[in-house]
Amino acid sequence: RTTELDSICLKAEVIPVLAIERVEDAVPLARALVDGGLTVLEVTLRTDCALEAIRRINEALPQASVGVGTVLTPAQYRQAERVGADFVVTPGTTEALYRYGVESPVPMLPGVATVSELMAGWQYGYRRFKFFPAEASGGVKALKAFAGPIPEARFCPTGGINLDNAEDYLALKNVMCVGGSWLTPKSLVAAEDWNGIRQLAREVAERFHH
Ligand code: 3PG
Repeated sequence: RTTELDSICLKAEVIPVLAIERVEDAVPLARALVDGGLTVLEVTLRTDCALEAIRRINEALPQASVGVGTVLTPAQYRQAERVGADFVVTPGTTEALYRYGVESPVPMLPGVATVSELMAGWQYGYRRFKFFPAEASGGVKALKAFAGPIPEARFCPTGGINLDNAEDYLALKNVMCVGGSWLTPKSLVAAEDWNGIRQLAREVAERFHH
């Protein structure tokens, strides 16, 4: 599990979090990000066409690693498995999700914001977590504090991350990558400005990827 997630997240550094409103945008949007160098994506189940969007992205862009995000229930986890998710991301956790995730062939990046949630996941064998909502939950300071009692845990912080603070997170030893919606600005998506998105992705990839 940990190894699978590491092989995905460590090649990422920055993971765009997508909420796709129009299914026709799915492939050109994902292609712009992947061409720009951001090959790991999280597509959230926050829109009606999300599952169809993921199906299309997986078919058109086999080189991309696609995580299904905003998974709240085991039923949604199952849907993510069916559309070929490479990993599942949750904003928070429940016992039911932890239990389902342990048995699933698709690894889960569970969302936690506190040490207690982290400890609950730890009991189930989880070692990699999404830290959400990062900025609102203490940001860099909280992650530094988590490293005291549980230094082995690694995080992908999301929620309030942007070009200005990403570096501070990525500098932490327990951060493997960061995520967020800042890679897909609404104005560029609405204008179908895929070149603009590719350019933004390229700038971010060049700045943060090693
Ligand atoms: C997520 O689910 O990861 C967040 O909604 C992303 O947060 P952001 O919009 O603040 O980047």
